[in-house]
Amino acid sequence: MAKLILIGFMGSGKTTIGRLLAEKLAIPQLDLDALIVQENKQSINDIFTEVGEEHFRKMETVALKKAINQNVILSTGGGAPIKKLNQTILKSVDAPIVFLNAEFKTIEKRINRDASWPLLKRIAELKQRYIKRNFIYRDLADIEITTDRKSPDLIVEAILEKYDEI
Ligand code: S3P
Repeated sequence: MAKLILIGFMGSGKTTIGRLLAEKLAIPQLDLDALIVQENKQSINDIFTEVGEEHFRKMETVALKKAINQNVILSTGGGAPIKKLNQTILKSVDAPIVFLNAEFKTIEKRINRDASWPLLKRIAELKQRYIKRNFIYRDLADIEITTDRKSPDLIVEAILEKYDEI
């Protein structure tokens, strides 16, 4: 069963923080996007281009069902917690769900550095998505961490402090 689950918008640091947490807790990290890429032998960008977002979401649920049963720190994709079925899957295990929150300005800065994000092409919609999703992330999470202007080490420390409390 997953030991800790990271959720949050693109560019919130789920992969980086997941890796650092995994090192600290000596538990492997599993990145849901990486699992989708591995299982389908295609990049996320190519999947979006070739079969579209709707099909990607189906692949994502299949991957999540597999990932949730593994003894890992699970970093999810930004859209994974949005589907009701995925929320049920995420809540089906006794792992704290950690929401990495960041201001939209911070997110924009971070994702601008990586042009491979498929959703970046529709930047105008991005803020709307961000606002809608943040309510969902917050609702689902056991722990919320604000990451703006914090180093990865500081974020990990803040998570571990709260992790001990719950
Ligand atoms: C998505 C976020 C991405 C990836 C895909 C869709 C989203 O993951 O799953 O591009 O809908 O927000 P990251 O949040 O890890 O970038």
